[in-house]
Amino acid sequence: MNDVDANSRSADSPLRRKRLQRQLRRYSVTTGLHRIRIVGGGEFSCGEDERILLAMERCGSSDIGVGCRGGGCGICRVRVVGGDYTTGKMSVAKISETERAAGFALACRVFPVSDLLIEVG
Ligand code: FES
Repeated sequence: MNDVDANSRSADSPLRRKRLQRQLRRYSVTTGLHRIRIVGGGEFSCGEDERILLAMERCGSSDIGVGCRGGGCGICRVRVVGGDYTTGKMSVAKISETERAAGFALACRVFPVSDLLIEVG
């Protein structure tokens, strides 16, 4: 291994630090961060271009169940009780149109547009 490889793999190498600063800058400039609160649980922040399930995992929380992360298994089913959001494609077998209209959604397919209050289950 040469010096460049060794430096870039070090936890506090200048290359790694620069990369992290660039990612952080891009993240904070291109996305509005919203606060996601779980009824009876914790809270975490999520960008508008980030799915709330992945944001929860990124923040080290575990209030919402994690399964396929692709909108198919239904394990991450939640009900948004406050705030605005958009969703990606979700399995109608897991969330019917009636449930969707009542605020039920799959957290792995929810993108926040404002701060959200969420019930799990
Ligand atoms: S994790 Fe499987 S549907 Fe969300």
